[in-house]
Amino acid sequence: MSTAAKMSATTPLLEVRDLVQRYTLPRESLLRSPGEVLALNGVSLSLMAGQSLGIVGESGSGKSTLARLIMALEKPSSGSVLMAGRDLHCVSADELRRARREFQMVFQDPYGSLDPRQTVARIVAEPLTALENPDRETLRVRVASVLRQVGLRDADIDKYPHEFSGGQRQRIAIARALITQPKLIVADEPVSALDVSVQAQVLNLMQDLQEQFGLSYVLISHDLAVVDYLCDEVAVMYLGRIVERGRPEDLFGQCAHPYTRALLDAVPQAQAGAVRRRRQSVAIASQSFGSAGCAYAPRCPLADAHCREVAPALRALTAHHSAACHKAESVMALPPLVSEPHQPLVSKPL
Ligand SMILES: Nc1ncnc2c1ncn2[C@@H]1O[C@H](COP(=O)(O)OP(=O)(O)OP(=O)(O)O)[C@@H](O)[C@H]1O
Ligand SMILES: [Mg+2]
Repeated sequence: MSTAAKMSATTPLLEVRDLVQRYTLPRESLLRSPGEVLALNGVSLSLMAGQSLGIVGESGSGKSTLARLIMALEKPSSGSVLMAGRDLHCVSADELRRARREFQMVFQDPYGSLDPRQTVARIVAEPLTALENPDRETLRVRVASVLRQVGLRDADIDKYPHEFSGGQRQRIAIARALITQPKLIVADEPVSALDVSVQAQVLNLMQDLQEQFGLSYVLISHDLAVVDYLCDEVAVMYLGRIVERGRPEDLFGQCAHPYTRALLDAVPQAQAGAVRRRRQSVAIASQSFGSAGCAYAPRCPLADAHCREVAPALRALTAHHSAACHKAESVMALPPLVSEPHQPLVSKPL
């Protein structure tokens, strides 16, 4: 194996190191100092080529902020994002533009993310034309080819977004992400705006594309079933931190953080033919930054004085499973929430 090949086999495709992002809020009055939101509070993770990482967590936990920083759409307050060992936030604008070929993004809203005045040909070609200047005919062949890869027809190339359903629009968004032949796709809630049946089709497409091209995904979702279906590993975020990380079977079988347990407890369970939402123990997070101790302690049924005083670090429980909780062992000893651990929550697509 060549040195370059050895390096790429051992260097993570994506490495995020101690990422912090602060936002300054507008002043409420001239007499008050401006408030601050700590959207990311020291996030570290890594992802090998061909693997997929799911990011889950309630609204405001920092998932989209993390996605924007991974995509180098904004600069972090501190920390680094390394793509194949290269720090995206330290390279020149020209290098960054060229590096963008390697990673693309799919957004949540298939209605808002596609320009309604552009044809599919232009929308899908845009990331490529930003990088190189292919002639018109080559470009049309490339666009037609990715449209076929996502299950659309050649005839769709001259249509406009309004002529497509939500699921088809998300296929166009995926085609646009694929056209530069990236290694990584960051998908922020890619199916949450779609019908359940269409969700399964789009997820199935993403899985097929991963197998075909060895793609990696960072998949952000509120829906634990979605990440269970597609991801090799899952990171659970709470108030700008990763509080648990593991394989889906670890998290769904025997989670180690009370917050993950609360998220799992809020998953809809099929009962007697009807879907009922279980007790909603997940409320909107309050931004209680700056206080000592575990950020989850005010909501945690297991919290004691130690939890309120000392913030727990993310610690390894097994080779693949880590959690930031002083009581992780007690949480793992609780009876499982789902009677059959790690049952895929999304059925095989239609
Ligand atoms: N540009 C910004 N200016 C100020 N605050 C911001 C900005 N972007 C995000 N925030 C704040 O940072 C926190 C994290 O937001 P983020 O959008 O990353 O959460 P999220 O996990 O993606 O939530 P959701 O599930 O609702 O999409 C929130 O408190 C949000 O209000
Ligand atoms: Mg978001």
